[in-house]
Amino acid sequence: TWTCLSCVSSSAAVMSSVLQKLVSPMTSGPAEPPRNKVTVVGVGQVGMACAVSILLRVRPNDTHTHTHTHADKLRVLGLIPRRTTYLVPPGDYAVTANSRLVVVTAGVRQQEGESRLNLVQRNVNVFRSIIPQIVKHSPDCTLIVVSNPVDVLTYVTWKLSGLPKHRVIGSGTNLDSARFRYLMAERLGIHSTSFNGWVLGEHGDTSVPVWSGANVAGVNLQKLNPDIGTDCDKEQWKDTHKAVVDSAYEVIKLKGYTNWAIGLSVADLTESIVKNMSRVHPVSTMVKNMYGISEEVFLSLPCVLNSSGVSSVINMTLTDDEVAQLRNSADTLWGIQKNLKDI
Ligand SMILES: *[C@@H]1O[C@H](CO)[C@@H](O)[C@H](O)[C@H]1NC(C)=O
Ligand SMILES: *[C@@H]1O[C@H](CO)[C@@H](O)[C@H](O)[C@H]1NC(C)=O
Ligand SMILES: *[C@@H]1O[C@H](CO)[C@@H](O)[C@H](O)[C@H]1NC(C)=O
Ligand SMILES: *[C@@H]1O[C@H](CO)[C@@H](O)[C@H](O)[C@H]1NC(C)=O
Repeated sequence: TWTCLSCVSSSAAVMSSVLQKLVSPMTSGPAEPPRNKVTVVGVGQVGMACAVSILLRVRPNDTHTHTHTHADKLRVLGLIPRRTTYLVPPGDYAVTANSRLVVVTAGVRQQEGESRLNLVQRNVNVFRSIIPQIVKHSPDCTLIVVSNPVDVLTYVTWKLSGLPKHRVIGSGTNLDSARFRYLMAERLGIHSTSFNGWVLGEHGDTSVPVWSGANVAGVNLQKLNPDIGTDCDKEQWKDTHKAVVDSAYEVIKLKGYTNWAIGLSVADLTESIVKNMSRVHPVSTMVKNMYGISEEVFLSLPCVLNSSGVSSVINMTLTDDEVAQLRNSADTLWGIQKNLKDI
């Protein structure tokens, strides 16, 4: 035997393990038999992009695209190989039975001058006719909500579904983070998979870029430039996050929709779940009791996704300022949620 003289902690002290400190468990349920059926609800542009991307990336052997509204767009489904796809008449949810995963893209869009509360309330009414039907036919499914505003609608879905929190996920900042990595890496002249950075919190304008954790090969950028991400920063790295926020608007302006990028992003999440990969993604999850948040709100944090849904949440080290931004988003979202009717 040998003794390590330079250990930081005394061996006598009872220490929690790295794993215990790293993750907050969300589920410890039993492993399940493999199921490979994916349903996409909503055949608007986003639903179509999700269905096609999932088929190309994950190749689930049983994929349904379910139309709730937009029946006129059904012809677009010619894009998907007939072999694996079914056109589901509106209202017929029986064919979605026993899905492993259901992607919800249905919903109404914001009208000019409409308040966010009003938009959410109109979507609550749409979701009331969809979510209970889905869960009735697939009581063991995991739901991925894509419709916007995604964090509030993920909460709404969780409430309407009655499913445990680890089975209801919002696409959240998964796409924002991918864009952030791409733009940061481009500026650094490296491949985006070699840049490590996360955008968390609320999807959209108030998303939180975690500058304190941005690194390349473990080299922390904030250590190299303590002002990174702030207004004082002479290099204005903040512009990268601004571009992430703006890019959603850019695409809307150009095409009217933000479809293909979100489709690929959802296919990524689908792959992690269907293939039980335990990859870590920034997705919207129930954050009550994390970072001092006391209300039932959904915000994006790094989540480990396996076939059970969110298996755990990474306990990310954030600065006080980053935590304050998360709490601020939580307060804003709760301000909307507490006024919603019929959920
Ligand atoms: C998460 O990490 C912080 C320190 O970074 C620690 O104070 C806290 O107890 C950890 N939470 C869990 C659930 O381990
Ligand atoms: C997912 O991870 C959790 C926690 O590690 C585990 O309890 C669960 O069985 C896993 N799910 C599957 C399908 O293996
Ligand atoms: C799909 O795959 C699952 C698991 O591999 C299998 O049990 C099921 O029979 C397959 N379904 C079809 C329609 O091929
Ligand atoms: C899922 O992956 C975990 C390891 O990450 C493994 O322990 C578990 O058995 C897997 N479950 C299934 C259903 O393949």
